[in-house]
Amino acid sequence: MQQTTDFLLIGSGIGGLTFALRLAEHGSVSIITKKSDQESSTNYAQGGIAAVVSSGDSFASHIEDTIRAGAGLCKREVVETVVREGPYCIHQLIDWGVKFTRAKGRHSAELALGREGGHSHERIVYSSDRTGAEVERALLDQVKNHPNIELYPHHQAVELAVFASDQQKSGRKRRCYGAYILDVGTGQVSLFSSKITLLATGGCGHIYLHTTNPSIATGDGIAMAYRAGAVVNNLEFMQFHPTTLYDPEARSFLISEAVRGYGAKLRDRTGKRFMSRYHADAELAPRDVVARAIDRELKLSGESFVFLDLTGLNSDGIKKRFPYIYQRCLEHRIDITKEPIPVVPAAHYMCGGVKTDLNGRTSITGLYASGEVSSTGLHGANRLASNSLLEALVISRHAAASAAEEAKRTNSPPGDLPEWSKMGHEDSEEWVLISHDRIEIQRLMWDYVGIVRSNHRLARARRRLNLIASAIEDFYLRAPIAEGIVELRNMALVAGLIIRSAEKRKESRGLHYTTDYPERDDRRWQRDTVLRRRSNVPTIII
Ligand code: FAD
Ligand code: SIN
Repeated sequence: MQQTTDFLLIGSGIGGLTFALRLAEHGSVSIITKKSDQESSTNYAQGGIAAVVSSGDSFASHIEDTIRAGAGLCKREVVETVVREGPYCIHQLIDWGVKFTRAKGRHSAELALGREGGHSHERIVYSSDRTGAEVERALLDQVKNHPNIELYPHHQAVELAVFASDQQKSGRKRRCYGAYILDVGTGQVSLFSSKITLLATGGCGHIYLHTTNPSIATGDGIAMAYRAGAVVNNLEFMQFHPTTLYDPEARSFLISEAVRGYGAKLRDRTGKRFMSRYHADAELAPRDVVARAIDRELKLSGESFVFLDLTGLNSDGIKKRFPYIYQRCLEHRIDITKEPIPVVPAAHYMCGGVKTDLNGRTSITGLYASGEVSSTGLHGANRLASNSLLEALVISRHAAASAAEEAKRTNSPPGDLPEWSKMGHEDSEEWVLISHDRIEIQRLMWDYVGIVRSNHRLARARRRLNLIASAIEDFYLRAPIAEGIVELRNMALVAGLIIRSAEKRKESRGLHYTTDYPERDDRRWQRDTVLRRRSNVPTIII
């Protein structure tokens, strides 16, 4: 079965939806998304979107802050473009119906601005403490009312359709003609062929035991792109958010960095502040510094959490600024206006990904990437808070313009592309065993490839992961295709790529800290960690 569209978009977060809205005038758009349409990291974003919209702020300052956080690996041209186009993109979101919090009440023209770590100005545009839900709502409203856009919820991309193209007979350069898509309801896989394909599949936080990410974040885009031969880079730079609510029984719940920007202080069990021992900006130091400081305090004290304390601040103000966080903490029997919040770090954001240029173009013709799945050069070795929604907005804008032009020059995909051929038949009871591998991967990544790494831990992780990945691949080949095994296979591959990247970087920089090479080494390592699959090497061996 083959279905044809001009533009195939995989993912319905901010990267995919804004690309769709900008392209819909240029042809038919199909958006594939593996769960319900709003289920994405975008929908859970709290703090907001960094943009220079006040007269006291400047592009130069936002550029400087981004580059400082990125620890020598940001690409200046990308940083300058993304920062300079921020205000335009914020106004475009407002035109699409996003209601940001205003400085002086609902009808004021002035946007309220928050502060987050690593920023030298108040420049975070937000919508209460649920910015992402408001953005996702407004974008989905627009998309659902557009006649050229078709949304396919509960459809999961399994593989990209990448083949040698007619124009490139040498076979060296390959083209993406769409993707093989599993209809989760029927279990059928069909080819969605397209002139242009966009990966907007988000991050991979779920390969770690503790993460702020929703369960969609299994690294599918990185895995599919890598298997298809695309360049991926900088995967060792997994960002850990310093403050998630400590509750061993529940999924990690983010306590926004905006809470520290509002004045909350970090304290140890005895009530003492500790951040000023680690950085001059104390609680507002960049995220990698705060996460490592908490990790160190926990290792020194043997405790399971530290405290984030808002109690000295006006309680009505707290409830008004952070109604969602206030409510969610109350559900855990913590009144944040009266008692400090127990917090721990958790995996939050993948700074590396599928390598793209400023126009979102990957190393495979016809394949674009935007949002967390991509690695554009904006974040370098560490992302500045609230720069990721901004990046997705700007890169999707450029990618849409580039894709519209490319589509004009591109013929419709051939009608004789290979059909999906993997046909596992064994209805295996083994799935019960294999499904346990998910938690094993999460645990080993958390234990051995976390905030602080070492050669020994990484080697151990690699050995264990190779065994798990082989068993998963074997099962994948024998079993009928299903959502769980597709995700698990992707998680195993991306975990392996992270380990391999971390083993390559023999220094400490930004989010990658290893006790064997504790110093930054600009002479040898001020460069990206680049991985690309050689076609004769199985993807499961790292
Ligand atoms: P997502 O929004 O994650 O969307 C990915 C989409 O791809 C989903 O629809 C998913 O279902 C779909 N998908 C994945 N795999 C497949 C597949 N195989 N087939 C089909 N569909 C697939 N950033 C900020 O800048 N500011 C913030 O305040 C902020 N707060 C955050 C708070 C939380 C709790 C989290 C988790 C992240 C936060 N971030 C924040 C980061 C930011 O939200 C994400 O990086 C950003 O939303 C990613 O957008 P995206 O479009 O790339 O991916
Ligand atoms: C937060 O609100 O702390 C998340 C912001 C981000 O990840 O950029």
